[in-house]
Amino acid sequence: MDNLIVEGGVPLHGTIRVSGAKNAALPILASALLTEGACTFRNVPRLRDIETMAALLRFMGAETEVEPPMVSVRTGHLKRTEAPYELVKQMRASVLVLGPLVARYGRARVSLPGGCAIGARPIDQHLKGLEAMGATIRLDHGYVLAECPRLRGATIHLDMATVTGTENLMMAAALAKGHTQLIGAAREPEVEELARVLNKMGARVDGAGTDVIHIEGVDELHPIDHAIIPDRIEAGTFMIAAAATGGDVLVDGVVPEHVEPTSAKMRAAGVDIVREEGGLRVRSPGARELRGVDITTAPHPGFPTDMQAQFMALMTLARGTSVVTESVFENRFMHVPELSRMGADIEVRGRVAIVNGAPSLEGASVMATDLRASACLVIAGLVAGGTTEVLRVYHLDRGYEAIEKKLGPLGARIRRVRGNA
Ligand code: EPZ
Repeated sequence: MDNLIVEGGVPLHGTIRVSGAKNAALPILASALLTEGACTFRNVPRLRDIETMAALLRFMGAETEVEPPMVSVRTGHLKRTEAPYELVKQMRASVLVLGPLVARYGRARVSLPGGCAIGARPIDQHLKGLEAMGATIRLDHGYVLAECPRLRGATIHLDMATVTGTENLMMAAALAKGHTQLIGAAREPEVEELARVLNKMGARVDGAGTDVIHIEGVDELHPIDHAIIPDRIEAGTFMIAAAATGGDVLVDGVVPEHVEPTSAKMRAAGVDIVREEGGLRVRSPGARELRGVDITTAPHPGFPTDMQAQFMALMTLARGTSVVTESVFENRFMHVPELSRMGADIEVRGRVAIVNGAPSLEGASVMATDLRASACLVIAGLVAGGTTEVLRVYHLDRGYEAIEKKLGPLGARIRRVRGNA
């Protein structure tokens, strides 16, 4: 397992290019199951999770070519309509094959994802929606068995704005017979992007990006060639790294609207963010000169839970207090003990973390526990005095394409070392 060694204290300067969005690419790769023939996807990031999704598609019998930023997927008649535990346990987003398999092949056997570091993360809403469309759902030794010769359109009320739940049901409804309404749908940009892809394939999806999505089922979808939107969470992470170190960085390729919830809070803290040449320029006097700002995570267009840990790292040195409320996941504060070991002053009470600005952070050996927590620790290392060793960076590699190769040219002193385990 690799580790990252980070030397703190260098303001970041220069231009950094944003890769394609992981959380758009994953459902879009799964959507290839809905078509006969070869789909080509561009601007796909080089990430472990992309490899895992491609491995899952190959396991089922699809042919894939994975040469990021290009990935092609050809599905004819699959050998299997099953997502095994070995793959699903590596990546929860594997459940995104469930909707397409039932819609196109009439059946699916998908391992329940099991919990993960940040919470129980059940898929009850996914299953409730498929049942509403006529699927019979059985649980069998940790697997979901879903069957239906032809799904039919339904009105589905989601109990919460689940992102992959919305995506799974949108894909299932695309080939169902009749009209489906998803009420209480997730509004994330990645949901809108999937709707664009489905409509390019010949689907009839309306209202993506709002909380009511209408899908008129069709009989067949055709393969496409599509370039995926940039990653708003990777972009936000780079924006915060620039702000924390007191730098001046052009985050190139980001869609400003997609990161507006994060930008608004960063501006409130005193960071200067302006549109420039197809990206955003971020200038900051440095974390110690910023103001503490409260955030509460919420489904889009609220403050993204995937940016909570990174923003908290910024607040550890800001003036005053920042109250961080994590309302999406029940256990997404595992970066707090690690930040505290670096000298941060944070008190956790349930889903609320109270961050009091500290005079400084000290480099330390710290452990990443989930994707965004590891990004938070890299940011803390960039502003800490001395050396920080971030362990278990395989978490980081799931969502960030060679982060040290992207931050290095901005002046960050960051290098990867082979771990001993
Ligand atoms: C997506 O996960 C993202 N992953 C996550 O990003 C992101 O943190 C999350 O949305 C929230 O924005 C992908 O898009 C691949 P949810 P998802 O279903 O869809 C509960 C990252 O860092 N829930 O919107 O799994 C659930 O427990 C990852 O890239 C149910 O109770 O999240 C959670 O508390 C981490 N029942 C809340 O809803 C369900 O059937 C939101 O979960 C579904 C969800």
